Amino acid sequence: MVKLVCFVVVVFMAAAAAMAGADRELKVGYYEKTCKDVEKIVNSIVVNSIKSNRGKGAGLVRLLFHDCFVRGCDASVLLEKSEMNMHPEKESQANIGIRGMDVIDAIKAALEARCPNTVSCADIIAYAARDASRYLSRGGVDFPVPGGRLDGVVSRSRDADAFLPDSAANLTGLVRNFRRKNFTVEELVILSGAHSIGVTHCTSFAGRLTAPDAQINPGYRNLLVSKCGGVSPTATNNHVVVNNVRDEDGAAVARAMPGFAARVRKARDYLDNSYYHNNLAMAVTFHADWALLTGKEARGHVVEYAKNATLWNVDFGDALVKLSKLAMPAGSKGEIRTKCSAVNSYHH
Ligand code: HEM
Ligand SMILES: *[C@@H]1O[C@H](CO)[C@@H](O)[C@H](O)[C@H]1NC(C)=O
Ligand SMILES: *[C@@H]1O[C@H](CO)[C@@H](O)[C@H](O)[C@H]1NC(C)=O
Ligand SMILES: *[C@@H]1O[C@H](CO)[C@@H](O)[C@H](O)[C@H]1NC(C)=O
Repeated sequence: MVKLVCFVVVVFMAAAAAMAGADRELKVGYYEKTCKDVEKIVNSIVVNSIKSNRGKGAGLVRLLFHDCFVRGCDASVLLEKSEMNMHPEKESQANIGIRGMDVIDAIKAALEARCPNTVSCADIIAYAARDASRYLSRGGVDFPVPGGRLDGVVSRSRDADAFLPDSAANLTGLVRNFRRKNFTVEELVILSGAHSIGVTHCTSFAGRLTAPDAQINPGYRNLLVSKCGGVSPTATNNHVVVNNVRDEDGAAVARAMPGFAARVRKARDYLDNSYYHNNLAMAVTFHADWALLTGKEARGHVVEYAKNATLWNVDFGDALVKLSKLAMPAGSKGEIRTKCSAVNSYHH
């Protein structure tokens, strides 16, 4: 009897060790046998949520970046503050405006009802970012996403501060930040194209409101100043502005920068290579966007992606897959969370 108990304990411990978060092999179609149609379910919830609020799609794409650059793709960005963890990643200033968590929660609830304790929140983030990219690019960006990630149990605000890039960073800082995660200058340029969708708070580009003409189209600067209600946005008076000048209201663009009026469309928030055109015209929101023009190599890629929309679609998909494969630090514990906003052991 004692022997049997020991045996059971050993087997249990072996199974627990297999739940180590790092260095797991990810596979396309990972849930084929354990939770059939998982990707169909994710897609239908993502599409419906974008149809009712297009901004949710931008939120989901950013969520993948903010999850994976901090402790790997482990859904650490989703963890809420708790008595056990007073300062999760969400509290970081770098996570200002983070959204789409409600979509992830809705997907998780649907999947728990269908196949309990099976699909990780980290995988849901990766599938949802792909589906949002596909929908917002009208099918231009589409790629298979491997599954098999585990959810982490650690989420620290200071890690988000340390690993997410600063919107006021210069090119040297950005290249270093991406290099730490094994991303090249070209991939930095490719991924920055995600700023063709979504919104930003005025405090995230405050420096741009008084930047010299050599760094920002003066008409665009005037437009941003008027949207922000002056040159000194504060945390308590922090307007939200669209990332892409294309998505601004036409009358305001026509007044501030007549040359751009033709680019304003009725359909907003498409994921495409317009970011590179805006960048070359010095009409992008963040200093970190403009900074891509300040180095020969990075600028060359901006020109390249402005010229070829298809090339960007393909390369952006590849870069998102690479992003989605960033692993947790070696030795990290992993689990399949029951609820994406809390680690399992805190439920009781
Ligand atoms: C290169 C360095 C980057 C910097 C400095 C940066 C910075 C920012 C900032 C400050 C915001 C606005 C937050 C706010 O004020 O509400 C933002 C929005 C956004 N970022 Fe980035 N970002 C970077 C790269 C990326 C990457 C790699 C992706 C995804 C692949 C991404 C996707 C987005 C999206 C989609 C939004 C809009 C989100 C929404 O509307 O909810 N960004 N980014
Ligand atoms: C870039 O930013 C870093 C850190 O903020 C700073 O130390 C460095 O001097 C800057 N480099 C250039 C070329 O401006
Ligand atoms: C980057 O690549 C090196 C060498 O292959 C590897 O040891 C390291 O873990 C990678 N870093 C990340 C964040 O994946
Ligand atoms: C644009 O990129 C696509 C995809 O790589 C390629 O097939 C095509 O030839 C390129 N078009 C031009 C005009 O260079």
